[in-house]
Amino acid sequence: MTSLLIDNIGCLVSNDPGTGESPLGLVRDAALIFDDGVVAWAGPRSARPGGTDARVDAGGRAVIPGFVDSHAHLVFAGDRGAEFAARMAGQPYSAGGIGTTVRATRAASVDALRSSTGRLVAEALRSGTTTIECKSGYGLTVDDEARCLGVAGEFTDEVTFLGAHVVPQEYAGRSDDYVELVCTAMLDACAPRAKWVDVFCERGAFDGDQARAILAAGMARGLLPRIHANQLGPGPGVRIAVEVGAASADHATHLSDADVQALAGSSTVATLLPGAEFSTRAAYPSARRLLDAGATVALATDCNPGSSFTSSMPFCIAVAVRDMHMTPDEAVWAATAGGARALRRTDVGHLGAGARADAVLLDAPSHTHLSYRPGVQLVAEVWRAGTPAWRDVHGR
Ligand code: NIG
Ligand code: FE
Repeated sequence: MTSLLIDNIGCLVSNDPGTGESPLGLVRDAALIFDDGVVAWAGPRSARPGGTDARVDAGGRAVIPGFVDSHAHLVFAGDRGAEFAARMAGQPYSAGGIGTTVRATRAASVDALRSSTGRLVAEALRSGTTTIECKSGYGLTVDDEARCLGVAGEFTDEVTFLGAHVVPQEYAGRSDDYVELVCTAMLDACAPRAKWVDVFCERGAFDGDQARAILAAGMARGLLPRIHANQLGPGPGVRIAVEVGAASADHATHLSDADVQALAGSSTVATLLPGAEFSTRAAYPSARRLLDAGATVALATDCNPGSSFTSSMPFCIAVAVRDMHMTPDEAVWAATAGGARALRRTDVGHLGAGARADAVLLDAPSHTHLSYRPGVQLVAEVWRAGTPAWRDVHGR
């Protein structure tokens, strides 16, 4: 593999306080060198070493780490545009809509699931996402969950078993029987295909005792825990996340003071998913309350056909800044380094020496434009592991 110099960077976000100022590790008039798929050097242009094989002129524009989208449900079939339209006309969001997608997903071939998942991964890449987590959860039988995880694993190493998304229709009124299936045959088949175990801990999905049992069964098979917690109302999800040492409590919208304190005093990341509140017209989580208490906050898309059908991290950043009162710096950090923490990854989410060479050239003078220019395609070029992964035709 050849080495590459990205030169003449107006504003480099390294997320490495050793490389530059502030938590973003900002360097003005910077350069970045990739070698063999990793960052070999980052710093002020005036100090750049010579001798690279190739050079890209950033033209004074900004370079940031590739986005780390730590929460997405990409393996599904069918369309719920009508449900969205009805919601915008006043219908409330209910987790029951998941059943519509389950029926379509069960009926879809593996080839169809592979092609729709691949399209979403490619769509995410075009908006700068270089690491993406992907959950099952629309199969809800042993075989359907296993095949959805197989498809997810073709696109990412961050694969999450979410057999406990909702109780499927055939188990209506027998949720404990379904939990038993999840904890035995389903996990036996699925654990070898996943890294993470997740559960939707919510009224209408799984209660606290069921969530604990499912996470414990997954952990006993070597999976690492993460939880959909406190999305639609208050509940025990966040407390359980902290209790089991989950990497992340996701949504974290309806929090008590004790929930906020528990997150702040733990290594569990609060992953906020503004696309879900946007698309269900619900109140946003209080990012400021979490940040001011000292919790680690990540931003992710929650890309799924029901509550948040966006794969765009720039969109989530813009909403988080405008409506959740995060600063532009906090939001960019949360969408990169925060996502990496939520996946317990140290090789992505930053551009310090040794990091995987995942970077995004923005058609903008600084990362602030991601929220200052909402809805605009600012991603000019994306590198993944040092290799060009996508480039806008007008990008350079
Ligand atoms: O994260 N909360 C549960 N699951 C998804 C919604 C899935 C759906 O509506 O299809 C979420 O928002
Ligand atoms: Fe989700």
